[in-house]
Amino acid sequence: MVKAFHLIAPLLLSSALFQGVAVAATDHNYCQSAPLRSDAVDYPSKHAWDLFLMLNHPALDRRIARGQPDCTKPIGQTGSTAVWESWRNAGKIDVPGEVFLEGGTEPPDWNDNTIKDEKPGSVPPAAVDAMSVLGNIEAFASSSADASFHDLALIDRINPQFSPGDGVFKGKGAFGETRMNRATYEFIKKNCLWSANGLRRYAEAFLEGKKPAIQFPTDSMEVKAAWIDFETQKIPQDKWDTYYVAEYNGRKFGLETLHILTKDIPDWFWASFHHKDQLSIGSAKDPIIKGAEHEDAFGRPKILDGTVWQNYVLGGTQIEFESSVGVPSQLSDAVVEKGFVTSSCITCHATATISAKGGGMPEGQQKAICLLSPETIGYDDCRKLIGDRYFVPGKDEIVSTRGAPLPEWYYDKSDKLTYLPTDFLYSIPQRAQVETSSPPVRCIW
Ligand code: HEC
Repeated sequence: MVKAFHLIAPLLLSSALFQGVAVAATDHNYCQSAPLRSDAVDYPSKHAWDLFLMLNHPALDRRIARGQPDCTKPIGQTGSTAVWESWRNAGKIDVPGEVFLEGGTEPPDWNDNTIKDEKPGSVPPAAVDAMSVLGNIEAFASSSADASFHDLALIDRINPQFSPGDGVFKGKGAFGETRMNRATYEFIKKNCLWSANGLRRYAEAFLEGKKPAIQFPTDSMEVKAAWIDFETQKIPQDKWDTYYVAEYNGRKFGLETLHILTKDIPDWFWASFHHKDQLSIGSAKDPIIKGAEHEDAFGRPKILDGTVWQNYVLGGTQIEFESSVGVPSQLSDAVVEKGFVTSSCITCHATATISAKGGGMPEGQQKAICLLSPETIGYDDCRKLIGDRYFVPGKDEIVSTRGAPLPEWYYDKSDKLTYLPTDFLYSIPQRAQVETSSPPVRCIW
């Protein structure tokens, strides 16, 4: 065992440096190797778990640096806060957060902490302390070597739990939270995409040929975390410490779902994790809803055994609109996408757009759902939204389900682009606020 430790030490040290944090030579380095981009396509389940390890690693105190792992702590250490929670909070409609500020003003530098943020979550004290489990260095070595639809006005007959229009779970005792890493944040800053007026100016500049289509850099990442209120959801108290926990407005919440989105591939890499006690779609508990979760071909890394993170499962990954034989791909989470679980992350997010006249494509999310599960929205509404020709005449039947959006949603009749995609990111068009003062001169293109 001692020998194995000596062999892997240099490898671990170099990976920590790669993540930008040096560790003192005498300290044990608990950071994992950075996920390998090519795994996004070659081995998606492994890639999802590698991202899970990286993003849930204890974060450095954000007053030292945001978004950096603390390599002196093992994953799951009691009281630690995950790396993704030190990213910038996109905020909610009523609470502007740390990116899309009130009055549409430019948000500060990445490491600035002057804007008040919600108190982050942490590993609960009663969970088994990872330190004792990680005495087993071999387990550690092997895992590191392997190395809103949410505008419900149109469809009020269904009652989704989640209302990402404002990032908050309504009425059912839970809330959602969106955070972005430094590369994503700095791209938004550089391109002045933080205000509604800035989005309109960008779309205009694109039409005038002054700006390229919106393409985030390859190291961009965002997460959406969904939390449940232990009390209103009647989670037995002896289960509370199986969740990563947060306190909000004096109440305790457990992390139910973690959606991870990375620009490892052009149309992003999509992954969904959830707590093991929460409904798995297509499981024996709910056999009616099939197909939206997939088998985990990799399996939970051993290093998570004995930590709070051992209670999380991979719901699935998504890397394309459709399979090579034209079958639409699907992925969703039973809680976050409740009411529209026969859906596809990538298809819905493709409708995140802006325009030169302000605002994005009308009813984009509903249109995306009509392609896969028109019964969710209703056949009559879907006929109006995506056109009669996609339905069998006189029948409530779609001619063929689709995974890719329709070009006519974006282009007008003369093939001019009306709606410019925001590179799949919905937080931008949904959260950007109206400017109440002049933007920096560099934002007038
Ligand atoms: C029917 C449409 C729809 C579906 C399906 C959907 N989303 Fe979203 N998603 C949204 C909207 C709208 C937002 C923006 C509001 C928010 O951030 O809460 C969003 C936000 C997000 C964010 C925050 C980043 C951003 O700027 O968009 C992530 C990450 C995310 N979703 C991941 C996923 C994953 C993973 C899936 C599939 C398991 C999924 N979404 C399915 C509509 C959808």
